[in-house]
Amino acid sequence: MKTILVTGGAGFIGSNYVRHVLTTCEDVRVVNLDVLTYAGNLENLEGLEDDPRYRFVRADIADAGAVEAAVADETVDEVVHFAAESHVDRSIEDASAFLRTNVVGTQALIDFARAREVARFVHVSTDEVYGQLGPDDPAFTEETPIQPNSPYSASKASSDLLVRAACHTHGFPGLITRCSNNYGPYQFPEKLIPLMISNALEDRPLPVYGDGLNVRDWIWVEDHCAAVDVVRQRGELGQVYNIGGRSERTNLDVVKAILGQLGKPESLIEFVKDRPGHDQRYAIDDSKITAALGFVPKVGFDEGIRQTVAWYTANETWWQRVKSEAYRDYYERMYGERTGEG
Ligand code: NAD
Ligand code: DAU
Repeated sequence: MKTILVTGGAGFIGSNYVRHVLTTCEDVRVVNLDVLTYAGNLENLEGLEDDPRYRFVRADIADAGAVEAAVADETVDEVVHFAAESHVDRSIEDASAFLRTNVVGTQALIDFARAREVARFVHVSTDEVYGQLGPDDPAFTEETPIQPNSPYSASKASSDLLVRAACHTHGFPGLITRCSNNYGPYQFPEKLIPLMISNALEDRPLPVYGDGLNVRDWIWVEDHCAAVDVVRQRGELGQVYNIGGRSERTNLDVVKAILGQLGKPESLIEFVKDRPGHDQRYAIDDSKITAALGFVPKVGFDEGIRQTVAWYTANETWWQRVKSEAYRDYYERMYGERTGEG
């Protein structure tokens, strides 16, 4: 039985990944290491507490001593590193947590993984490190220059470069994935799609930045998790793999699709002040992961958004507890201590 240390497994993609890997790989144990910031929600993993192949430990990746203490009794075979500050708007307000977790934390985790001589370290990164595209530019390839535009993407680019440097200098067994915008169950309702669905369900205004014509490539979260796991199992050490959903949409198209499915009026759309430095367009050329590892996303946008709207409609308690912050009691109830970070 192999033990995978998953960082950030209480977040949106990390929690979907923990379920994915436990379901698809019988020979794997997961140790989920997460400090539980506002974005960490153990209710995303409800039901796994008694699974003998799953263990939760609470630690900050930027605190090397805390990480070592949390997993002192574990043999760690592989690491899949999701833990990060992930929201662009928050990074524009205050970049400090992004530097601590995404940059200092990633280097601390590299040092930990080297000391433990792990066999593979998958660093989960983002297409935002490439900067932005114009309407007719070709999609990002793995060779596109790194030109991040927000404090968030600059911190993620820094972490990619630290993984790359460790591979080059120390023969570190790192792999980097760069994915486009995820959507699906358990996404924190500060991000576009869950914010718009939950606001629409409450008949509140849907705040669209600028003219709403910025373009993102949307990937169903389960497809991203499957791609990360293909890279974990079969990716070539030292390589970067782009992952995309083959579903470019303007923000306005996304919002109108949500309103259409919910039968709510477009008059709920409210155009608001644009995000400073707002990237115009992201698009992914995923030919490398398809050719090298045979990965293709399975769920197109129309099906994915239908399932996502259905999930948030059926799971109103989950997002109401997030919006009211009631979810922050879960750790205390299950593990006997209150979450601290803001
Ligand atoms: P998220 O914000 O939902 O979750 C982040 C998780 O990391 C939370 O559980 C949080 O508690 C944990 N965390 C934060 N700081 C930590 C620290 N110092 N120590 C330990 N744990 C910490 O994020 P997400 O949307 O699930 O993104 C996961 C990863 O995927 C991130 O690295 C992000 O950059 C990357 N990514 C996200 C997207 C997307 O569309 N959401 C797309 C591409 C890549
Ligand atoms: O591309 C991958 C990235 O996608 C990830 O690395 C990030 O972690 C993730 O947050 C996401 O970044 P974005 O900035 O693209 O996602 P967000 O959901 O914040 O915004 C998506 C688009 O919607 C963007 O053009 C801004 C716009 N938007 C967002 C919000 C929250 C609005 O118009 N109104 C809003 O209220």
